[in-house]
Amino acid sequence: MKFFLDTANIEDVKELLPTGWVDGITTNPSLIAASGRRFLDVIAEMCDLVDGPVSAEVAATDYKTMLAEGRHLAKIAENVAVKVPLTLDGLKACYALTQEGTMVNVTLCFSAAQALLAAKAGATFISPFVGRLDDIGHDGMTLIQEICQIYAQYPFDTEVLAASIRHPLHVTQAAQSGADIATIPPKVIYQLLQHPLTDKGVEIFTKDWKKTGQSIL
Ligand code: G3P
Repeated sequence: MKFFLDTANIEDVKELLPTGWVDGITTNPSLIAASGRRFLDVIAEMCDLVDGPVSAEVAATDYKTMLAEGRHLAKIAENVAVKVPLTLDGLKACYALTQEGTMVNVTLCFSAAQALLAAKAGATFISPFVGRLDDIGHDGMTLIQEICQIYAQYPFDTEVLAASIRHPLHVTQAAQSGADIATIPPKVIYQLLQHPLTDKGVEIFTKDWKKTGQSIL
């Protein structure tokens, strides 16, 4: 499963790049607002930092302006994936942009029916929001499973990008469910890493190595 970082914070990306885990980045208007930086600058810098897709979301809600914004964002770099909301206008823009060879990430997906429409509109990525479904008492991971099951039946090129990830279990369950990608907040990436027995083991190995009085270098 590919890992995208769900962040608009350049430092988060630089910090995790040496791990080899960063297959791409997703941003959204809320993350951009939180960064306090100019949107187009953030996207340009992100596209320089990683080879993989960098999602940049349109701000408009009407087809014509979404298309114009999408084309403008796509000009920033080859690896820009234009993000559009899963609305009628958004899917029309998705179809037009993918026909022009632009990657499109269709976001704010909350049902399998919506995901089917996005695939038929040529979406490169579909972003079902797992956490926001969980937040209202639904099982967001069931949606990932339903979409993967439907997509497996047909020659769709759309990749399932599990989004709105809240904790490590979402990541492992998305992988078990067959998602192609999970877009993960940096905080959750670090949580994935943590286990008290690993920490304890390192502590014991270090202590016992010291007893040997040896050095490797
Ligand atoms: O960036 C798309 C998605 O991952 C954001 O989800 O629910 O954390 O705002 P959320």
